[in-house]
Amino acid sequence: MPDSRNWFKSIPPERERKLLSSQRHGLFIKADDKQLINFASNDYLGLATHPNLRDAAIQEIRDHGLGSGASRLVSGDDPLLHELENRLAQWKGFDACLVVGSGMLANIGLIQTLADRHTRLFTDKLNHASLVDGARLSEGKVDRYHHLDLTQLQTLLKKHSAAQRIIISDGVFSMDGDIANLKALITLAEQEDTLLLIDDAHGTGVLGKNAKGLTDLSNIAGHHRLIEVGTLGKAFGCYGAFILGTSEMIEGLRQRMRTLIYSTALPAALPAAALEALALIQQGDVVKQLHHNVALFKQEASSLPLMPSETPIQPLLAKSDCHALEMSGKLKNAGFFISAIRPPTVPEGTSRLRITLSASHSETQIHQLIQALKTII
Ligand SMILES: Cc1ncc(COP(=O)(O)O)c(C=O)c1O
Repeated sequence: MPDSRNWFKSIPPERERKLLSSQRHGLFIKADDKQLINFASNDYLGLATHPNLRDAAIQEIRDHGLGSGASRLVSGDDPLLHELENRLAQWKGFDACLVVGSGMLANIGLIQTLADRHTRLFTDKLNHASLVDGARLSEGKVDRYHHLDLTQLQTLLKKHSAAQRIIISDGVFSMDGDIANLKALITLAEQEDTLLLIDDAHGTGVLGKNAKGLTDLSNIAGHHRLIEVGTLGKAFGCYGAFILGTSEMIEGLRQRMRTLIYSTALPAALPAAALEALALIQQGDVVKQLHHNVALFKQEASSLPLMPSETPIQPLLAKSDCHALEMSGKLKNAGFFISAIRPPTVPEGTSRLRITLSASHSETQIHQLIQALKTII
C-alpha cells in the first residue's frame, strides 16, 4: 500500500536543511545563530544586495505589482523582458535572446525542444544536472565523454552519425571551476557538422575584462552553430536565465519551448533589477574587484590543495565525504560558511569544499579565510 511517509527509503540524515533564509545580509549569513562570512554563494559580484537592483525591483513592484499572472505567450509578456533580451543579445554579441524562468528551465526546455528521436547528443560527463536532465528528458540518444576529453568526443562523433547532432558542455564547470576549450569545441562542431550548446552560467558576468564570459573570450560569440545559456541568478544577483543564438533559433524556441510556453513568466521586477545589474557589470568596477579578489586568493592559497581553477570557484578536495563535512564544520566554528559538496552532486571519491569568491569580500576576510584553511588542513 503506497504511503508517502516511507516513500523515500533512504534520505541521508546529514542532508538536513540549513536555516539561513531571512538572516542573509549580503556577504554574511546567519546559521544556527552564528554570523558567518559567506564563501559559498554564486553572487560573484555582490549584486544581490546592491541598492540599484533593490530600488529597481521595488519600484517595479510598487508601480505594477508582483506576479506576471501568466505565461509569456498568454498575458505575462512585459516590455522589460524585451528590453533585457535586446540588451543581453547586444552585449554578448548574439543576434537574439530569450529570457526564461531559470537555468534549470532553460536547459531542460532547450534540449527537449532541440532533440527529437533522430538527434544524438554528446555531453561532458561533468555537465550540470540541468543539462543532464535536459538530455534525459529529450528524445535524443546520449553519448557521454570523459570530462574535457576532446579526443574521446571526436571518436564518438566519428562513430555515431545522426540526422542532427549537438555537443553540449558547461563553459565554466560549476563544481570544479575549470573551463571547457570552446575554440576546440566549435572547430569540432564545424568539422563534424554539429551544433554546440554552451551553458556559461558561471562565466557570464565573471570572465574576461568586460565580463562577457567564455564565448566572448574564445571569440566564438554569435557563431551560427552556437547556442549559449546564461543565468541571472549568479553574477547578476537576480533570478532567471537567458538563451542566446541566431534570430531563427530564438524565434523557434519562443514558439516551441515547453518550459517557456507552459510556465508563468518571470515577474517584471526581475528584468528591472537585471538591467541594473548589466549596467553595473558594464561600468566595470565590481568586475575588477572580483578579479582582484580571485588573484589575491590564488596567490595566498598556493600552498593549499586546491583544484586547478582560474575562476571564482576554488574547490578544495577532501579525503572523504566525512572529511569534507568535518572541514566545513570547523570552518563554521571559525566564522566561515563553505558548503561540503558530496556525491551525487560530484563523482564518488571527490567530495570537496566549494569555495567561491565575490567582489564583496574584503582583503582582510580573504586573508582570514586562508589562515583558517591552513589551520584546519
Ligand atoms: C552550470 C549551471 N547551469 C544551470 C544552472 C541552473 O540555474 P538556475 O539556478 O537559474 O536554475 C546552474 C545552477 O546552479 C548551473 O550551475
